[in-house]
Amino acid sequence: MTEKKYTLTDHQSGTELELPCYDPTLGPSVLDISSLYGKLGVFTHDPGFGATSCCESNITFIDGEKGVLVYRGYPIEHLAEQSSFIEVCYLLLNGELPNADQLAEFDESIRTHTMINESLLRFFNGFHHNAHPMAMVTGVVASMSAFYHDSTDIRNPAHRDVFAHRMIAKIPTIAAAAYKHSLGQPFIYPRNELSYCGNLLNMFFSVPSADYEVNPIAEEALDLLFILHADHEQNCSTSTVRMAGSSGTNPYSAIAAGISALWGPAHGGANEAVINMLEQIGDASQISKYIAKAKDKNDPFRLMGFGHRVYKNYDPRAKIIQAMCHKVLQNMGQENAVLLELAQELEQIALKDEYFVEKNLYPNVDFYSGIIYRALGIPTSMFTVMFAIARTVGWVAHWAEMVADPTSRIGRPRQLYNGPGLRDYTAIFDR
Ligand code: CMC
Repeated sequence: MTEKKYTLTDHQSGTELELPCYDPTLGPSVLDISSLYGKLGVFTHDPGFGATSCCESNITFIDGEKGVLVYRGYPIEHLAEQSSFIEVCYLLLNGELPNADQLAEFDESIRTHTMINESLLRFFNGFHHNAHPMAMVTGVVASMSAFYHDSTDIRNPAHRDVFAHRMIAKIPTIAAAAYKHSLGQPFIYPRNELSYCGNLLNMFFSVPSADYEVNPIAEEALDLLFILHADHEQNCSTSTVRMAGSSGTNPYSAIAAGISALWGPAHGGANEAVINMLEQIGDASQISKYIAKAKDKNDPFRLMGFGHRVYKNYDPRAKIIQAMCHKVLQNMGQENAVLLELAQELEQIALKDEYFVEKNLYPNVDFYSGIIYRALGIPTSMFTVMFAIARTVGWVAHWAEMVADPTSRIGRPRQLYNGPGLRDYTAIFDR
């Protein structure tokens, strides 16, 4: 990492402060302002962190202007075409692609950690049948710290490894338990001879009273979606995991915090919101009405699945998903082809509209992912849970990177206070 200097001048006092500026491997230079308050007594102000790097990371990089996403240096297009979700998990956690033995060992470890403690499973009975699956998953993941005591010592690298494998292996089991509970169906135990996504589909869709065979196209589509969602550098939920984890809390609680952050419609909840929006639009004749609503400053409606804080170009994940959409719909869930046509028409109209062009608003990953989930038979309320399953590895990788970094400190932002100035307490009878 090369370093140059910037000089900041306080014109009132004439004080000059030299600030180091780092050139990263990829992306814009980063000005180190950590000495600013100590030397000049001022804070910086950047709500939403639009221009603030909050940590040093070696995991994922996004070039939002060009629409580029890389995991550990590998372009997402290469990984989507040639890798598998399990291999991507290894890559994100360890920094390098595994050789055949390393991959087999990792895969075996994930397969053999899939069961959850029976007492944890019984937690689901405490939820009402119509509880949102994200609420159940958040609660159960947070409760994992009460069960797996051999993986909560964050200073112990062996504990961190066990935690990482457990979390990745068990999150599909927890998700499936939430789904089965909402249906009132018996829970289906994991089957370790199946692939990661094959096992997930089996736990979701098989029942004890009938045979179930995993559809290889569904398995392939899910594996692809999971690769694409696996990590996205310092997004809202990942930053939340880092922030919660920075206090030294147990890792399961940090992940539960991330799941909560993901749920919001501006983040992972958007895939659910896109399908609700497309259903609300109904047919192509209504598109212009909804585009007008999205552009109206006095209307809270936004085009869901459009826009991104970092991408000012087409989200590369959306392009890949769109192609998979066609493949899935040709093979299953043909009735959802209408939804895909409507989505494509909406995209075409929005991409030509001056408002969306001027603001660089393009379809993001969530615009098409829901159509695939719908075609696979996954209910809308489970869409964000699917995102959480895939993103778990990203959260774990970032958490582990932060904990292993001897320079990391508790996250503690400052503020621009604009409340009342100092004043004396007034007795109640004088108010
Ligand atoms: N529809 C209509 N207008 C929009 C939209 C949209 N989807 N997104 C942004 N804008 C407008 C916004 O009104 C603002 O206009 P102005 O400058 O006149 O005030 C401008 O574009 C910039 O928007 P912003 O809200 O300041 O941008 P942000 O970076 O804070 O928000 C976002 C990014 C993703 C939250 C936002 O684009 C959005 O709400 N999109 C819809 C929800 C969505 O699809 N979220 C999934 C994100 S991708 C998956 C993930 O990683 O979580």
